[in-house]
Amino acid sequence: MNVLSGDTLEDRVLDSVRDWLSDPLESRFPYDGVLAAFHAGGKEFVAKELLALLHEARAAFGRFAGSPARTALLRDFLDVALDKHDGVYDYPSYTGLRLLPMPSVDEPDLLADIAVPRRDRLTVQLLADVARFELGALDGTETRLPLVRPTPREVEKRLRHAMRVAAPALDRVMTVRRPSDAQVLDQARWLVATIDVRLDAYERDALRLSMLPVYTMHDEYVFIRTLQLFETTFATLAVLLERVVRDLGEGDDPSAAAGLRSCATLLSEAAPLFSMLATMQVEAFRTFRDFTSGASAIQSRSYKLVESLCRRPDADRLDSAAYTSVPDVRRRVLDGVLTIEDVLDLRLGGDGAGPEPELATALDELATTVQRWRQTHYSIAVRNLGQRTGTGYTEGTPYLDVVRSIPVFRSRAADATGCPVAAHREEEA
Ligand code: HEM
Repeated sequence: MNVLSGDTLEDRVLDSVRDWLSDPLESRFPYDGVLAAFHAGGKEFVAKELLALLHEARAAFGRFAGSPARTALLRDFLDVALDKHDGVYDYPSYTGLRLLPMPSVDEPDLLADIAVPRRDRLTVQLLADVARFELGALDGTETRLPLVRPTPREVEKRLRHAMRVAAPALDRVMTVRRPSDAQVLDQARWLVATIDVRLDAYERDALRLSMLPVYTMHDEYVFIRTLQLFETTFATLAVLLERVVRDLGEGDDPSAAAGLRSCATLLSEAAPLFSMLATMQVEAFRTFRDFTSGASAIQSRSYKLVESLCRRPDADRLDSAAYTSVPDVRRRVLDGVLTIEDVLDLRLGGDGAGPEPELATALDELATTVQRWRQTHYSIAVRNLGQRTGTGYTEGTPYLDVVRSIPVFRSRAADATGCPVAAHREEEA
């Protein structure tokens, strides 16, 4: 079949998927065409005929020949592409989380010293991808998401914050000398080129397949990547905190304190992502969020894992949308998975004695960093959302206003009354 026989992009893509179905090898899948069709109008507006064909493609799943990893990537991509069609659209599918190789508590015995480099690698890849998109739009070579391009000044700010987040991760994970004295745009170009030559084929595909915006507003790109970047850090924190629980159980307080400090450091390093996101144009956000109803980070499994590894959530929170939106994390809590606070209570026997100073400081440092994250998140939500309700069916910012002061550790005074430190200043953006 001549895959170029159709007149329009849509015709050509339909032909290419039909052709693929005649010999469904993973390596033959027409990713380029399918992505182009999704980007042309956004996931919300993909032609029903294409969705029906992709549905057929997924049904051919047992016959995709290819490596297990590549086959899983195609299957996950089809699930993410078909989420609205299947009626299962949610936050993990909006952000294509399954497509990204982030650390996970589901990987038995994933070591902290593997989780952090994996987080760093994915972090710099996602940031380099943001930079590639923004620079391409500036240069006029990027044709995706053409609506409401930001000004060059906003792009420069955006990339400055991207570079701030990338810097410590790059320094840990690669032996490269960063051109920190160069102009921001040159630094960003350097990042794109440096990461590009280091991507393997799988990573390259995972990156491009995990970008399926609902509409064609330029700024949805940075929104999706910001969510994915924070998710990468939360997922890593969950792995590290599970280790902290074990270390505490074994009485290895120095390792537990080091684990807690790593969590605080990684979350602090990620904080300028909020500044990067603060360059998003409010009107652009309000336009594309018309099509994101049902997808809210209240469904973030990793965030709730982090929270519920610190301490057992109170009963009212466990029975609220906060946890009913993440049923498997709720199940873990109900099953009595041990938390940091549980182990400390067991060890200290509730006699009022606190942990050793090094451990106490590390606990407070993490609690403060998480509170600061919540405060900044609240501010950015207020600015972008105003009085609107959330896409996760809460009343919106009033929900965030309440949950931002929930203590990270019930027993630690530092965060018992809310955030003791000023919010990260995304206004400085
Ligand atoms: C324009 C930016 C943002 C707005 C307007 C916003 C708004 C909201 C709202 C209204 C909620 C409450 C649940 C709902 O009804 O949807 C929420 C929850 C949440 N958001 Fe955001 N958000 C933004 C950016 C982010 C980013 C970048 C992240 C990073 C992953 C994030 C992570 C979370 C998490 C983890 C929750 C659950 C909090 C909890 O249940 O305690 N948000 N957000």
